[in-house]
Amino acid sequence: MLFDISDKPIASFDGDITLVFIINGNLKDTQDEDLLKRVDFKAGQDETVHLIEKERLYVGVSSLEPDCLRSAAATAVRSIFGKSTYKHLTIASIENIDEHCMQAICEGILLGNYSFTRYKSKPTLSSLEKVTIFIENNTNSTKETIQNSINNATIIADATNYARDIVNTTPDDCYPEIMAQIATKLCEDTQLECNILRTKELEEQNMNALLAVARASRHKPCVIHLAHKPTNPKYTITLVGKGLTYDSGGLSLKPSASMVTMKADKSGASAVLGIMKAISELNIPIEVHGFIGAVENMIGGDAYKPDDVLYAKNGKTIEVRNTDAEGRLVLADVLAYAQQEVKADYIYDFATLTGACVVALGAYTIGIMGHCDTPKTLLQNASKVSGEMVTELHFNRYLKKLLKSEIADISNISSSPYGGAVTAGLFLSDFINEENKDKWTHLDIAGPAFVEHAWGENPHGASGAGVRLMVNLLQNLVK
Ligand code: BES
Ligand code: ZN
Ligand code: ZN
Repeated sequence: MLFDISDKPIASFDGDITLVFIINGNLKDTQDEDLLKRVDFKAGQDETVHLIEKERLYVGVSSLEPDCLRSAAATAVRSIFGKSTYKHLTIASIENIDEHCMQAICEGILLGNYSFTRYKSKPTLSSLEKVTIFIENNTNSTKETIQNSINNATIIADATNYARDIVNTTPDDCYPEIMAQIATKLCEDTQLECNILRTKELEEQNMNALLAVARASRHKPCVIHLAHKPTNPKYTITLVGKGLTYDSGGLSLKPSASMVTMKADKSGASAVLGIMKAISELNIPIEVHGFIGAVENMIGGDAYKPDDVLYAKNGKTIEVRNTDAEGRLVLADVLAYAQQEVKADYIYDFATLTGACVVALGAYTIGIMGHCDTPKTLLQNASKVSGEMVTELHFNRYLKKLLKSEIADISNISSSPYGGAVTAGLFLSDFINEENKDKWTHLDIAGPAFVEHAWGENPHGASGAGVRLMVNLLQNLVK
């Protein structure tokens, strides 16, 4: 998509259609107040109306916040998606908006224009080629700051769409070795470094919990380590992603309906790939390490079983009581490996870890858990501008007791059906070294990573959850 900026009056526009944002229901300043009232347009958030004769597309925005603008822009673009008449969109100027709002509009356009067509024999493709942003009356920003917003938005939205593509790809087309290929290609295209551990190295590293989960699959597992190493970095950050390319539940097999969408169990890993792509392209002066555990959880004669006891990399023993609680087993070893390899200031893991988190928070919100407020506050601040919602779920010592095992050091499931998102987070905490406890936060993205309807700037299916949030966090750290 080509973006350009114009400081001429909007009357000089030569596009195919003009997008006009109506802030807070205020129709007064529009050229079409009477017409809009006649069609009963209230300009509620994401409400659109297209005045075809004038080729003006109006969209409501409840307040002048990045979050609202991003969602409105995406919804508007979606409403003209695939219509071949509309190749060139112009955006009417909004008075005095700041760079975050401008970035959010551009992100909204690119995120709303996304479609996943790999498996369609006759795909409907986007027709949009060019967007011109009019900036008269916008005294808050110069052309330069707006260009900067466009550049940021392009890199961040492309990285989000890249993560969406990986998640949406079926388990037959995206298994651990393919994840390794995707990571290798990413490193060829950027300055990122890449190291991939396959079965032999995983055995040498004693990653027995991860290997047990992988055992019944014909696809061999791997651990991927990507690194962004700028000179004189201000911080070092570790990111860890759950990359279950498919989660059938294993011998504790999922019911059929719950198994559908489990291709999305690689969303944490896909987010890490997307984040690494964006920070490399933005050349953020922070050293960032991305670790991915890529595994398929299947059934078969060699499957790991409820009743097994696994010897995790950090020496702890785990009683398996449910093979569907596999993500935490994979992460236990990858977190241990990541801490062995890198001394980081903060450690964040991304995982579609529990259905319980979706029950607790709904489908649109990320659950964040950890022992210390500092890394969580960074996420909460990044949430405001990135528009990805986060809610803290608190640890407590009573829930911790529910992971007690009679036969091993810890059980892989809680003895109670309640509080499952928190007990999963507490399980992971057992694999965080004492000196890192306050540096770590777990992000359960099971809700927003994959939703079977469009919402805000997100399409049906994968959202790329975590990418915008973490890139924003990293950008804030260097400000
Ligand atoms: N991948 C699932 C969690 C999940 C559920 C993600 C729904 C997205 C949507 C995870 O591996 C899992 O199966 N967790 C179990 C844990 C239980 C056995 C303690 C769950 O949530 O039911
Ligand atoms: Zn599972
Ligand atoms: Zn899973």
